[in-house]
Amino acid sequence: MEPAFPEENEQIDRWLAAPPAAVVEAVKNHSGDYLVLGVGGKMGTTLALMLEAAIRLSGRSATVTGVSRFSRPEVRAALEAEGVKTLACDLGSPEEVAQLPTPANVFFLAGQKFGTTDAPEATWIQNTIVPSLVARHFTASRMVVFSTGCVYPFTAVDGPGADEATPLACQGEYASSCVGRERVFTHFAKLNQTPVNLFRLNYACELRYGVLVDIATRVRAGESIDITTGYVNLIWQTDAVAHAIRCLEIAACPPVPLNITGPDRIAVKSIAEAFAAKFGTEAKFTGTPADTAWLANASKSHDLFGVPPHSLDWMVEAVARHVAAGAPLLGKPTHFETRDGKF
Ligand SMILES: NC(=O)c1ccc[n+]([C@@H]2O[C@H](COP(=O)([O-])OP(=O)(O)OC[C@H]3O[C@@H](n4cnc5c(N)ncnc54)[C@H](OP(=O)(O)O)[C@@H]3O)[C@@H](O)[C@H]2O)c1
Repeated sequence: MEPAFPEENEQIDRWLAAPPAAVVEAVKNHSGDYLVLGVGGKMGTTLALMLEAAIRLSGRSATVTGVSRFSRPEVRAALEAEGVKTLACDLGSPEEVAQLPTPANVFFLAGQKFGTTDAPEATWIQNTIVPSLVARHFTASRMVVFSTGCVYPFTAVDGPGADEATPLACQGEYASSCVGRERVFTHFAKLNQTPVNLFRLNYACELRYGVLVDIATRVRAGESIDITTGYVNLIWQTDAVAHAIRCLEIAACPPVPLNITGPDRIAVKSIAEAFAAKFGTEAKFTGTPADTAWLANASKSHDLFGVPPHSLDWMVEAVARHVAAGAPLLGKPTHFETRDGKF
């Protein structure tokens, strides 16, 4: 039996951000301060808080500054309460970007996915013009640039998944703009000899959002799950963020891409059935699993950093308890089932 999981937002934030020993060791060996661009989103708080906690445990002296527009002001207050400095900045403004400090270590998490179908121009600005402003400002920093497994084509569900050598595809407007983000960072990294890691992430999940929350809430509400996207890759947010911090070590020029996700090719149907069993209900389905899906092979990152320690069974148990308790959710569905690239 797992111990109780936290249910309040602040407790969850601190719990997700508890740094593994390898992260504390990595931070001990870094030099300089840290900047987290796009700190106000779903992963930024975990990243900034984990850095802050790891610095404390390492005995090193360094600051963590989170940058966002802070459209959710409560995020800013929560970060500052834990010792993270904050700067409000629109990364789409050249004048505002020019004012940002340029510490040794920079994480780039800003981006746009949802709303692309209604306003594709805004997605292109966010995913290509913002990167160009950022890449030109932080020429002397080590950078971990958050990207996505959506830069690859769909691969066979019974195959090994896309690895870092798989040629990129432009599958739909959002994914195309993400390829653009990588190309822009790569261009300026080569021009300025900036060390960069391209952090190709497939579906982080935690208690309040993610593919598992999407499936659990639908099963609990008695709604059908579309299983046309029959398989996904998942990683617990703590493990994803720990890998992001350790990716500073591998940043290089030309940029180094790395797939970040768990070891399993997970059947959506089996997750829904696992939640149904925990909730004492029956899962309902529509569609038939397609032969292909956005699946990544992250064995290179597992060789470097180890297999992410949070197992699928553990994640399903944690999310099931959270959803069953009616604890807070972010209300931001992933739309993992989307196959036409329209978000
Ligand atoms: N979460 C996942 O499972 C997942 C999977 C694959 C890839 N990724 C990638 O990882 C990155 C981080 O993920 P996430 O889930 O935390 O994304 P997110 O929730 O969209 O957070 C990104 C945050 O960046 C800030 N931002 C956006 N545009 C900005 C601008 N012009 N100036 C300043 N701040 C800006 C926004 O906060 P404010 O509104 O406060 O500015 C936004 O909430 C994303 O870019 C995504 O491409 C995530």
